[in-house]
Amino acid sequence: MVEVLKIEGGHKLYGDITVSGAKNAALAIIPGALLVEGACRIENVPSIRDVKLILDMLRYLGAKVELEDSSTVIIDASEIKTCKAPYEMASKMRASYYLLGALLGRFGEAEVALPGGCYFGQRPIDLHEKGFRLLGANVRQAKGQIIAKAKTLRGASIFLDKISVGATINIILAAVRAEGTTIIENAAKEPHIVDLANFLNSMGANIRGAGTETIRVKGVERLGGGTYTIIPDQIEAGTFMLMAAATGGDVCVKNVIPKHMDSLSSKLIESGVEITECDDFIRVRRNGAIRPVKVTTLPYPGFPTDLQPQMVAFLSCCDGTSIVTENVWENRFQYIGELVRLNANITIEGSSARINGVKHLEGAPVRATDLRAGAAMVIAGLVAQGITEIHNPINIDRGYEDLEKKLTAIGAKIERVIQ
Ligand code: UD1
Repeated sequence: MVEVLKIEGGHKLYGDITVSGAKNAALAIIPGALLVEGACRIENVPSIRDVKLILDMLRYLGAKVELEDSSTVIIDASEIKTCKAPYEMASKMRASYYLLGALLGRFGEAEVALPGGCYFGQRPIDLHEKGFRLLGANVRQAKGQIIAKAKTLRGASIFLDKISVGATINIILAAVRAEGTTIIENAAKEPHIVDLANFLNSMGANIRGAGTETIRVKGVERLGGGTYTIIPDQIEAGTFMLMAAATGGDVCVKNVIPKHMDSLSSKLIESGVEITECDDFIRVRRNGAIRPVKVTTLPYPGFPTDLQPQMVAFLSCCDGTSIVTENVWENRFQYIGELVRLNANITIEGSSARINGVKHLEGAPVRATDLRAGAAMVIAGLVAQGITEIHNPINIDRGYEDLEKKLTAIGAKIERVIQ
């Protein structure tokens, strides 16, 4: 028996849809709670599979984790039993590597299995290791574990050879309680890096410059507890905007920070979609044809790679030829074959996808090869004629809370069935 997401395509989406808390912020902030002695009450936590996994990892390490309600979690890591995260847990997701920075920063030691997560080609962690070493840690890999140890962590100047979200976050985590000041140059600027810094600062850290290319972390002795609210999810918001635009509907995407959506909004406008921004929602409408566009993924504030598959799905019915270039990951087009099953006409040329718009997509069985590829299949299924069955929806559950419920409320015909 297998679980399948079944979508009857061709229904335009109308109404309001609300975005949950940011997955990638939660996945950094929850490990960040390990640096805090005292209770952290974290609000707007998305109820998704990856968050449940990271909370389980904290429980395993010995932290007290309580759910106050479905989106509020209280973590007290005053006492921890172990600094080792085993393979069975860490290999299930990418963000488990944040346990390294957090445990190293708090206890001077960490042993975490090499992370898992979506496969987009090689996902090295050399920059994380470089950062830890410059802070004074001894870092080695043995039997699939990354082992980091330091008698004392001392602030250092760290230049990231490549912009890396994960390395920026991990170095912040390790540096928060180090002696002296750490300067991270060529840092990533993603909204969830700012969110992590705001969370840590609200607990007593001294981090300046998050959201710019230079971040200064002045080490503090201790972090105490407090309450913090996670920002809305930029990628979930973008996925909903693309769903509304793809079906030719009229949807208000609520609980968003419009500024975070600038790169997507500008491309949607270029492709003929009407976008109206308000304080905390964006209205997305489309009547005419989808005009072809060129898109290149880049670190923030560029077009996010995590919206690339959804953008390609949206453009598969454009009126002409669109080019989407992937600049962050070496191999993030594996899902194209699945879109082709739905009648899309897309070819890969080096790091670009050439999308020759078709009149319509046709429903078929497809696979959610990873999280965002799965979201792309949902977009394609919503516009395809007939029934699309998405296999392996567990990949989608990793990052989207209550997806069927949220989409059904705005007119989608989507259900989860066991076959
Ligand atoms: C995070 C996101 C992921 C998103 C990506 C880029 C989480 C849990 N995941 O992944 O969804 O697609 O940001 O926005 O937040 N690199 C190195 N050496 C390193 C680290 C990275 O060469 O030590 C390279 C990678 O191969 C990649 C690029 O840097 O080409 C960007 O990776 P990075 O920003 O680190 O991605 P993640 O933090 O793993």
